[in-house]
Amino acid sequence: MKTGIIETKKGFFEITVAINGEKKELSVKNDESLLDALRRHGWKGTKKGCDTGDCGSCAVLLNGRPVLGCLAPAVTAHEGEITTIEGLGSVRAPHPLQVAFVEAGAVQCGFCIPGMILSSKHLLDRTPNPTEAEIRKALDGNLCRCTGYVKQVEAVKAAAQKLRGKGKRARA
Ligand code: FES
Ligand code: FES
Repeated sequence: MKTGIIETKKGFFEITVAINGEKKELSVKNDESLLDALRRHGWKGTKKGCDTGDCGSCAVLLNGRPVLGCLAPAVTAHEGEITTIEGLGSVRAPHPLQVAFVEAGAVQCGFCIPGMILSSKHLLDRTPNPTEAEIRKALDGNLCRCTGYVKQVEAVKAAAQKLRGKGKRARA
């Protein structure tokens, strides 16, 4: 158990986290996964696929790194910064990765997409111009039952190009 966590009633703890840039205090159960805690508190963009660490649909960024929400105990996020898919963009102002996934036809049922996009964001944050092999490696923990793992790669390449262009314009 992390230090500084307050037990509010038997089996429940209050954790302090920044979710998508906003500070929150969440009541979580001592044996609750981060995935279940996020969904119970309203961040339902994080999907529960297998619940056993195999599919990647529950991936979120914790302190900038992808974690599987179904395997991470919620209490381990105390004092951390979490990014969920809701934090990336909105319908009115989507993130370039969200636009690229839609434009490439990579979104079919959509269930795997939040995890795929967050894994892709982690890649592009570190590697602005990834090779196809690097994209495939970054996404190898994200399963998709609908597609053939081609359009997602195209989408990440397109988003990378767009983001590099934005960076150049910002520096000009
Ligand atoms: S729901 Fe977490 S890896 Fe599948
Ligand atoms: S789009 Fe359906 S699981 Fe990936």
